[in-house]
Amino acid sequence: MPLESAQALGTTSGERRDTLTITDNRTGKTYEIPITDDSIRAIDLRQIKVNPDDFGLLSYDPAYLNTASCRSAITYIDGDRGILVHRGYSIEQLCEHSTYLEVAYLLIHGHLPTRTQLDQWVHEITYHTFVHENIKKFMEGFRYDAHPMGMLMASVAALSTFYPESKRIDDPWQNHISAVRLIAKMPTLAAFAYRHAVGLPYVYPNNDLSYPANFLSMMFKIGDAPYEPDPRLVRALDVLLILHADHEQNASTSAVRSVGSTHVDPFSAIAAGIGALYGPLHGGANEQVLQMLNRIGKVENIPAFLQGVKERRELLMGFGHRVYKNYDPRARIIRKYVDDVLAVTGMNPKLEIAVELERQALADEYFVSRKLFPNVDFYSGIIYEALKIPTDMMTVIFAIARTAGWIAQWLEMINDPEQKISRPRQIYTGPLNLTYVPLDQRG
Ligand code: ACO
Repeated sequence: MPLESAQALGTTSGERRDTLTITDNRTGKTYEIPITDDSIRAIDLRQIKVNPDDFGLLSYDPAYLNTASCRSAITYIDGDRGILVHRGYSIEQLCEHSTYLEVAYLLIHGHLPTRTQLDQWVHEITYHTFVHENIKKFMEGFRYDAHPMGMLMASVAALSTFYPESKRIDDPWQNHISAVRLIAKMPTLAAFAYRHAVGLPYVYPNNDLSYPANFLSMMFKIGDAPYEPDPRLVRALDVLLILHADHEQNASTSAVRSVGSTHVDPFSAIAAGIGALYGPLHGGANEQVLQMLNRIGKVENIPAFLQGVKERRELLMGFGHRVYKNYDPRARIIRKYVDDVLAVTGMNPKLEIAVELERQALADEYFVSRKLFPNVDFYSGIIYEALKIPTDMMTVIFAIARTAGWIAQWLEMINDPEQKISRPRQIYTGPLNLTYVPLDQRG
């Protein structure tokens, strides 16, 4: 509400008020804006006008560096202290005691399940892993060298046509079964994409296996021989899935929320999230880490490579994070599993380069002063490679894991009465009032 002057606020009394006083020096008017949860509402700025016809003041925030788009009770991150918490539980506790499917339940339902609830949830997911046979034909249409993220994105979008009832997003049962279908079928679609690329027959889900073991089976089983992955590999994969399950309002989750805000079905919204995750600055980073380690080739080449990064000829992939300006807690956890996996699979020369690269970067003023630390993708790529997962499947596994978070965030968004269709404003910088010139008169 506009006030006549700053003095009218009575700030001399000394009592604390959760408000922000803004003086518009164009008009001399002063406004008092409420502060809630250390935030002001951007819409409160709109009352600040030069004259009654003025649209009102906008906040300009390219890349959303300082804009909260929602209230959320799902994931908490303290980037400066390197803390990640899901529904109140630290990522360290979840990685030590839980499984991916239990964490998915936690994210989506808001609480840890009882034994009966967990058994029911795991049963539902396990018995929805099969996909319609037409999906196989659909997969056949892709070229042999199609990137599996493109195949996953397209086939998840296609699922919306197999389940048209999923657009009834005001029906809790539909939303539940969509969530189950998405989590259950994502590994099947991902493995089918891989088998298509390598020209191997598709392997159907095995309901006797755990969620991560079944994924490895669909990826690598040959013929009728039983496929029994080492439990240490299965556990490392499960922990990787937990680590990637949710990360609050990142680019892909914002894409899911933004597309979902149109009230489209969840398959279409999550296909949009997969598109965002595909980018090399987001989920594509672990693939880029492996390519970078391949290019470096040997430990002796590291100083020259880091010099190139400092000269801004390239990025040190797997380093840096928009939110963590400290060690990514997920990187610390996954580092421990690298040793477990390599004990099974044997030493990987890329790990040697990765460890030395990390050591040299963390001792270098350039990276230290910019608070650039390894993120989760720095080591996840090494584990995937040890598991014999090809580079272009790494982001696909990230997408499998993030599905739980995307669904939880989507459900929170559609049930939030404050949310509307997502529609940012812009500051127009182009011309106005040009006169159209017919084509044959243009120079
Ligand atoms: N290598 C070299 N320099 C870097 C890197 C990097 N990986 N990341 C940031 N910097 C530098 C920037 O050049 C900038 O330097 P300057 O201040 O001298 O101009 C400074 O550090 C600050 O960087 P910003 O660009 O402000 O960081 P931002 O928060 O916008 O970017 C991002 C975060 C996109 C993750 C970035 O660090 C990056 O590109 N990292 C490599 C890709 C990567 O690993 N992505 C995975 C992210 S985690 C995930 O998606 C699971």
